[in-house]
Amino acid sequence: MARRAGVRLPVDDTPADAERRRRGDRARAINKEAKDYYRRILLKGNVALEARQYLGGRGLSAETQEAFQLGYAPAEWRGLHNFLVQRGYRVEEAVEAGLVVKAGEQKYYDRFRSRVIIPIFDAAGRVVGFGGRVLDDTLPKYLNTPETPWFSKGKILYGLNQARTAIKEKNNVVVMEGYMDVIAAYQHGVNNAVASLGTSLTREQGKLILNYTRDVLIAFDADEAGVAASLRGMDILSELGCQVRIITIPDGKDPDEFIQKNGTDAWERLVANALPLVEYKIKQATGGRSAITVVDKTRVMQQVLPSLPGLSDIEREDSLLLLARALNLSWETVISEYKRYQANLGNKWSNPDNIVKTKHNIIDIKEKSSTRDIVESSILRLVLEEPALGQTVIEKTGAEPFSKPFHRKVFKMCLEAAGKPEYCPADIFNHLDPDEQKTLSVMLSGEIPGDNLVYILESYIDAIGPLARRERREEILLEIGDARRAGDEQRCLQLLEELKILQNIREAEKAKDNGRSAYLLQVYRHFLELRKP
Ligand code: UTP
Ligand code: MN
Repeated sequence: MARRAGVRLPVDDTPADAERRRRGDRARAINKEAKDYYRRILLKGNVALEARQYLGGRGLSAETQEAFQLGYAPAEWRGLHNFLVQRGYRVEEAVEAGLVVKAGEQKYYDRFRSRVIIPIFDAAGRVVGFGGRVLDDTLPKYLNTPETPWFSKGKILYGLNQARTAIKEKNNVVVMEGYMDVIAAYQHGVNNAVASLGTSLTREQGKLILNYTRDVLIAFDADEAGVAASLRGMDILSELGCQVRIITIPDGKDPDEFIQKNGTDAWERLVANALPLVEYKIKQATGGRSAITVVDKTRVMQQVLPSLPGLSDIEREDSLLLLARALNLSWETVISEYKRYQANLGNKWSNPDNIVKTKHNIIDIKEKSSTRDIVESSILRLVLEEPALGQTVIEKTGAEPFSKPFHRKVFKMCLEAAGKPEYCPADIFNHLDPDEQKTLSVMLSGEIPGDNLVYILESYIDAIGPLARRERREEILLEIGDARRAGDEQRCLQLLEELKILQNIREAEKAKDNGRSAYLLQVYRHFLELRKP
């Protein structure tokens, strides 16, 4: 597909790949530089006195602060900016890494100011991003590195580099919500904890965990909203084959506060009392009451059944028995409800069989596609996987990136789905007619060439501009013919002028003269503006 579309994918040994890798290395180097800068200031700076008191006041020892490489970003507007420039980095690189914010032409300032800095490491121990906490009650409490091609909150687990040895040894992991929970737990000897950084758990995070263990303990903050939002994440873990248990922390505390106040033994008792996901859900949904109405029973069933498909046969049977007992229903009723749920699941979730059935149509459809179509559908494929990327597409290409009506329709649906926690690509099927479903099946059966969706998306988007312009050049040639025949001199000249600009852009791009192509693109945008009625 990529070859036919003339798109360069991030595979080994292409120049584009080498360039990406170089940019990636550079981004990590600049992050490490920044981490050391913040750390030095926390340790030695007079300006960090208050920060040192703050961390001490939260009970964090010097050893713990060292283990997590905590730092401090002073109140200056361009402290880090100036430091990085002096170290030979370009301002654009600092902006790309999310360390410096561009406020306008030649206007830059440090993203993190007057905040305790918490470096975020990947599993290999490289600095990929930062969190920064205020010292008081100012909002927002935390600022984080924005989503970049190298940093995506949903794809990392905070603390994994510290915790992974202990996770392997204990053969279980505790997933918490916040930076501070993990750090405080570590100081109290609970060194197998990681944090999801306040987001609902994602499939990528689940897969990360599965590199080390399948026994997962969840220790989220006890507020109601938190519980509801995190259930989907727990189902994802269970679908991936993890055994999920939930730790309930009393009095609405978070792990940090609980451990600091009650100590490690009390914490271990909570762990020992953790409930398996299904039991937890039953308890949540029934609120501990036994006599409940039919409506309640249905609701409980709807909440519990999604946790079952990922379980082993024994675990599932056990859970169904538990459910029968809790709802005071017969075993047969519960089993048949579960079967019904499974049958419906086939409609709701992308069913591999359906996709395979239409696979013989793929060739036909591909044959008819223009290059532009192929790139568009590749972009859409990524957005279908991760609707949140829709926003990125809009930002990078302008409001209407798609030319085909079908693509526009699906894109719109993805944008609508972006906020929904329960989203899965196949939901979109229900809103399409059979022919469109076929096309969507084909699209969904396409493999995504790599893990870093943002990366891949960028390379597709980079490709779409030149493609659109090539199509336009061909179109212009036809239109010039028409205008000549019609004797429309004025129109002819206008078309020729447009063609000239487009050809110049193409030459600048071929010569890899980025400055010139950027300039010419601006000229072209201006030209199109003027031509608008
Ligand atoms: P919490 O509000 O539970 O933070 O948010 P916390 O870790 O307990 O922080 P302290 O104890 O008040 O210092 C959980 C996580 O959600 C993310 C952070 O990753 C935080 O650790 N978060 C929270 C943000 O990214 N921004 C915010 O403004 C708040
Ligand atoms: Mn906290």
